[in-house]
This record gives sequence, structure tokens and C-alpha cells, in this order.
Amino acid sequence: MHLVQPAPGQFDLAAVRALLGDDWPAVNREIQARVGSDVALVSSVAHYIIGSGGKRLRPLITLLSARACGYEGDRHIVAAAIIEFIHTATLLHDDVVDGSQLRRGQDTANSVFGNEASVLVGDFLYSRAFQMMVQVGQMRLMDVMADATNTIAEGEVLQLMNCRDPDTTEARYMEVIYRKTARLFEAGAQVGAILAAQSRAVEDGMVTYGRELGLAFQLVDDALDYDADRDEFGKNIGDDLAEGKPTLPLIYALRRGSPREQLAIRRAIEEGGRDDIATIRAAIQRTGALAYTSGRARECAVRAREALDRVPDSPYKRALEDLADFAVERRY
Ligand code: IPE
Ligand code: IPE
Ligand code: MG
Ligand code: MG
Repeated sequence: MHLVQPAPGQFDLAAVRALLGDDWPAVNREIQARVGSDVALVSSVAHYIIGSGGKRLRPLITLLSARACGYEGDRHIVAAAIIEFIHTATLLHDDVVDGSQLRRGQDTANSVFGNEASVLVGDFLYSRAFQMMVQVGQMRLMDVMADATNTIAEGEVLQLMNCRDPDTTEARYMEVIYRKTARLFEAGAQVGAILAAQSRAVEDGMVTYGRELGLAFQLVDDALDYDADRDEFGKNIGDDLAEGKPTLPLIYALRRGSPREQLAIRRAIEEGGRDDIATIRAAIQRTGALAYTSGRARECAVRAREALDRVPDSPYKRALEDLADFAVERRY
């Protein structure tokens, strides 16, 4: 019996949050309490992006992981807020790098406040996260979070190196999405086990859970970039193509496309821009590239669920399992 029975696209994140009782509002209070600065522009930009909400999936995973591992203290609240700050900082930087205009259904911080302010406030949020890590005062936790932050930066740079390169392989793509996205999910799940002083075996299970869920999450994000409803997704469609970003839907369509389709896809990657989006989407459709991408995501989600085998059954564990399905079924 599952906590939530998700119909595709109708997964109830609210039910999972409710399961956490006061933990959930406590994380949101912690985020609000730590986002401020007496420098007005820092405060404006930080409140703008934090106030736009988002799914807060990573802190949700940290809380669920801690509780599923039997943690009874309250340091998971700050840990969850730290993970969300790191995530938010990456978004501020990412939208500048990607030249994105829409996030969480509103204008990106870079389009409202400019690139300079976005980058600098991203730095503010990273360093605020480090201050909070010190406050938690647990070396293993700092180790995991600092390492994850460093890996994300590498992932974004690795992706930059793949941009406009139509010879990017699926393996290179997977390496990018592990570093830029899955590593933080991994850290979020792992810190729950660390706080609960779980055995290395359980901790490793949480690491695998977070990694596989994060991979599934990014694979689906990259499919949605060709397929989502803009209002539901909260981001513009075709951003990846505009950047000449060789994500899996393109890599697969290039592999399976007709010579004419291959030519069009190679050119679109090399030149970027949205001009050829109709042709490219048709090729993606015809080759089954989105089905392939979501199939890969589903495999990751299965591995994520399996990795929870070592964790005793509880509503928290079942919610973690449900989140693995959400990562695949989601439309936003
Ligand atoms: C966006 O992450 C960045 C990716 C890794 C794809 P989310 O989709 O979790 O962003 P928010 O926080 O819910 O807006
Ligand atoms: C998200 O990458 C990863 C990070 C923000 C580190 P994307 O560029 O694919 O995510 P969106 O589509 O902008 O949310
Ligand atoms: Mg982006
Ligand atoms: Mg994307």
C-alpha cells in the first residue's frame, strides 16, 4: 500500500509534505529566516528567487531520508535548508549561463535584475549555505555538501564544453547530468543517513537512491524541454535547443534519424537557436527519442527504489519510493 497513488502527472507532493508534520513548515521558516541581507539588492534578488517557490524536492528528500533512517533530532531542518540554498544558487547561475527568461512561471532573476546581480547573489546563497553548514558543525556533513557543490560546478562547466558539439555521446551526457544534478540529490539523501548515524551500508543505499532519482529527474527535465506545457513546466520550451545543448533526446534522434534528420540535428546543435525547432521536434517524435529518454529515466527510478531495500519499511520510505515515480511521471 502506498501513501500516494500517483496518476501520471497528478502526483500529490502536498501529501508527502503533510506526512512530515511540522518538519516541512520548519524548513520553510529556516529558509525565510536565512535568506536576508542588509544589502538591499542582495535581499531583493534572494527573496525574488526564494519567494518564487519551486517544488523544494531536494529538502523534501533530506527530511524523508532522515526520518526513514530513524533520526529524531532537528538538525535535518537546517541541512534541508542548506541543500535548497545550494540548489537555488545553481539556478541563479544556470539561468545566466543558459540565457533563460522564464523559471517557476515568472521572469528569471537575470531578466529582472540583470546577469551581474544574479551571479553575485548566487555567490551570496552559496556562501550562506556554507555558513549554515558550519553552524550544523558535523564534519561528515560538511564534507558531503562541500563536495557536492564543487561537483555541480564541474558539471556545469563540462556541459559548457559539450555545448554546440554534435558528437557528444550518451556517456558524456550522463556524466554531465550526474555532476550537475544527481550529485545534489545524492547529497540530500545521504545527509539524512549521516544525521541518523546509520551504517555505511544504509548510507550507501541512500547515496544510490539520491543519484538514481537525480538522474531520472534530469533525464525527464531534458525530455520536458521538448514536450512540456510551458505554463505547467514554468520554463520556456526549447531552451536546450536554443543553447545548442546536446541532451539525450537530441543525441538519440541523431543516432536513429534519417540522413536528412541527422543533418538538421547536427546543424541545430552547432548553431543553436530555435529556428529549426519544428523540424527537430518532428525528428525527435519520429525516432521515439522522448520514449527512449523516459525509458532510461524509468530504469533509474527502479534502481532508486531498489536501493531503499536496506531501509526498514515506514511511511517515509514509501514516500521516497513514490518520489522516484514522481521524477519520471512529472510534467512540472
Ligand atoms: C531545476 O530543478 C533544475 C534541474 C535540475 C532540472 P527543479 O525542477 O527541482 O527546480 P524547482 O526548484 O522545482 O524550481
Ligand atoms: C540544471 O540544468 C542543473 C543546474 C541548475 C545545476 P538545466 O539548465 O538543464 O536546468 P533548467 O532547465 O535550466 O532548469
Ligand atoms: Mg538551465
Ligand atoms: Mg533543462
